[in-house]
Amino acid sequence: MRNIMEDKKEKLYNTMGSEIADGFTCKPKNFDANKPIMHLKTQLFICTDERCGKAHKDKDIAATLRELIKEVNLSKGEDRIKVVRTGCFGACRFRSVANIYENTKVNGNLNNNGIWLKNIHQYDKEKWKRLFIALKENRSIDELEEFKQVPMSDPSFYK
Ligand code: FES
Repeated sequence: MRNIMEDKKEKLYNTMGSEIADGFTCKPKNFDANKPIMHLKTQLFICTDERCGKAHKDKDIAATLRELIKEVNLSKGEDRIKVVRTGCFGACRFRSVANIYENTKVNGNLNNNGIWLKNIHQYDKEKWKRLFIALKENRSIDELEEFKQVPMSDPSFYK
């Protein structure tokens, strides 16, 4: 005889669309070690280490950004943007810092690969959305004045 509570238990799915194992928040119920990771066009590395993390008013900036990405329909599909938290980049004086990685092996935009954004803790939700749309549309972030970048020294400086 089936347990009535079991029948009523709601199935949960992780962001990859896999059913979640009981007692976990993202572990798939049916583990497949060879399942490919979900395609992404753009990956945003957000520093949430000590100094950058403190600059954010938001306790979980990565979770907030994931919600915003959903709102602009870029959480899946060929233009998917993924957000990943990172430790210190060694660029704390420009906090908060984020790095844009474009998946140039598939459909990423070479022009926007390796962009370092500074002072992202000052972005409001609308500015974040403008960034996400610009990335989707392959607009050059270098030409968009509102997204200030971390300056990087020329390699010849260290010769
Ligand atoms: S804490 Fe973010 S760059 Fe150092």
